[in-house]
Amino acid sequence: MKQQPIGIFDSGYGGLTVLKEIKAKLPGYDYLYLGDNSRSPYGNRSFETVYEYTLQCVKWFFKQGCSLVILACNTASAKALRTIQQNDLAKIDPAKRVLGVIRPTTEIIGKFTKTGNIGILATNGTVGSESYPIEIKKFFPGIKVFQQACPMWVPLIENNEFDNAGADYFITKYITELMQQSPDIDTILLGCTHYPLLIDKIKNALPPTVTVVSQGEIVANSLAIYLQNHPQINEKCSKNGQISFYTTDSTEDFDNHAAIFYGSVIKSSHLSL
Ligand code: DGL
Repeated sequence: MKQQPIGIFDSGYGGLTVLKEIKAKLPGYDYLYLGDNSRSPYGNRSFETVYEYTLQCVKWFFKQGCSLVILACNTASAKALRTIQQNDLAKIDPAKRVLGVIRPTTEIIGKFTKTGNIGILATNGTVGSESYPIEIKKFFPGIKVFQQACPMWVPLIENNEFDNAGADYFITKYITELMQQSPDIDTILLGCTHYPLLIDKIKNALPPTVTVVSQGEIVANSLAIYLQNHPQINEKCSKNGQISFYTTDSTEDFDNHAAIFYGSVIKSSHLSL
């Protein structure tokens, strides 16, 4: 039977922060990672463009044999996931599944707050989609959600410029703008899979009473439950503990940079879309 890795997708490196946690939780499965680095960042792109790029990548995963693809990218989850699930899967192959990172996060995020005031830091695309406020309201109707777009953060991270004074300026700027929206915010969600790289700096810019939540572990736990509850998908996923990495840009750059996100050495292959 053909090997069926679980596909993990991001516009660039960010999804590696999610894959790292998924691999720790579910080490026995095979994974196939694709970073669309040549077209990253997605954060400021239109709905149509993010949808078109994401669908193209999802189709590539399916061609490689994946039955299950995780969009480990909030922007793609916010702008492309619903259309892919509702319109495209039926045409491509109704037995395939594509899941995102927003739903599992919103199911649980309300449990972190005591004041009932949550801040979301995310890309322009994710903030503009209103996905977080809409989804959180379904699970935690009493919670107030405040959003702050951080358009400079992904470019700083993708270009490896996040550990300097220029980056500090933009970290403080967006955190201050978020906290000015409500002094009662006690929980902040990193609603972009790139942002865990900034977590120490973000925490330093906040009062110690504010809890900062990143998504990797939440998504990994949710995937484990999903596989348990969907044996027909689970049994299709191959389990040899292998991982392959692909990038649409330079493999040399990807390998040098990706280790920072993933925590160990990566050897990628190039994909021309
Ligand atoms: N890592 C992505 C996210 O979670 C996308 C960032 C981008 O491409 O702008 O939103």
